[in-house]
Amino acid sequence: MRPGRTVRQAADPQEVATLAADLIAEQVKAKPELTVLVATGSTPMLTYAELARRVQAGELDLSRVTAVQLDEYLGLSETDPRSLWNWMQRSFVEPLGITRTVRLDATAADPRAACADYDAQIAQLGGIDLAILGLGPNGHLGFNEPPSLPDAPTRVTDLTPESQASNRVYWNAEVPLQALTAGMNVILAARATLLLVTGAHKQDILGRVLHASSTPDVPASLLNGPEVTVVADAAALGSPA
Ligand code: F6R
Repeated sequence: MRPGRTVRQAADPQEVATLAADLIAEQVKAKPELTVLVATGSTPMLTYAELARRVQAGELDLSRVTAVQLDEYLGLSETDPRSLWNWMQRSFVEPLGITRTVRLDATAADPRAACADYDAQIAQLGGIDLAILGLGPNGHLGFNEPPSLPDAPTRVTDLTPESQASNRVYWNAEVPLQALTAGMNVILAARATLLLVTGAHKQDILGRVLHASSTPDVPASLLNGPEVTVVADAAALGSPA
């Protein structure tokens, strides 16, 4: 394991959610106006549900947080049921009572201008305080597909066949072959990062992230340093619960 990165082992996905929600709550208590980069996908959903439970119970106030979309399929409008913006609204923004958001506009006539506008909004907010990320089956972060260099900017990317297949599962439908993603430069500049990983199907790729050399061929392996916490369950870590 490389120095500086913390790995927290949980017994199962629900315990990952509890631990992750504890870490997110700590950050929001220290800075209520936190700017959070928000992954969708399956893995963080239990964490978002746990946060929603705490908000509803009056234990946590996330109303001053800004939610920044991590990625989006190219060309999908915000009302398309497959849109990741839509998913972020349903799972994170609405249940947590968040009103400030930054959207990655995948319907813009000029996607490059939309990426520049997104980066400018993040810069105006003072950068990302906390990135909540999932781990792609090929090691991608957002839609930074392998290989992605650490300075890869916010941009249009081609989805690999592996990512297309894993994304089809969400909707039981085809997804666009291209996407917009926050750049590796945005992700790696986050002041704190939570990488959430669950399930035996992530064991091999998580092993490469944690134990092999840092390489653009596994973009998540570029997450290093004391600001990075990996919260993974026993199945993903391949260790006894
Ligand atoms: C989703 C995203 C993706 C997912 C990754 C893992 O916004 O950016 O990088 O985090 O593909 O997906 P799950 O959690 O469904 O295994």
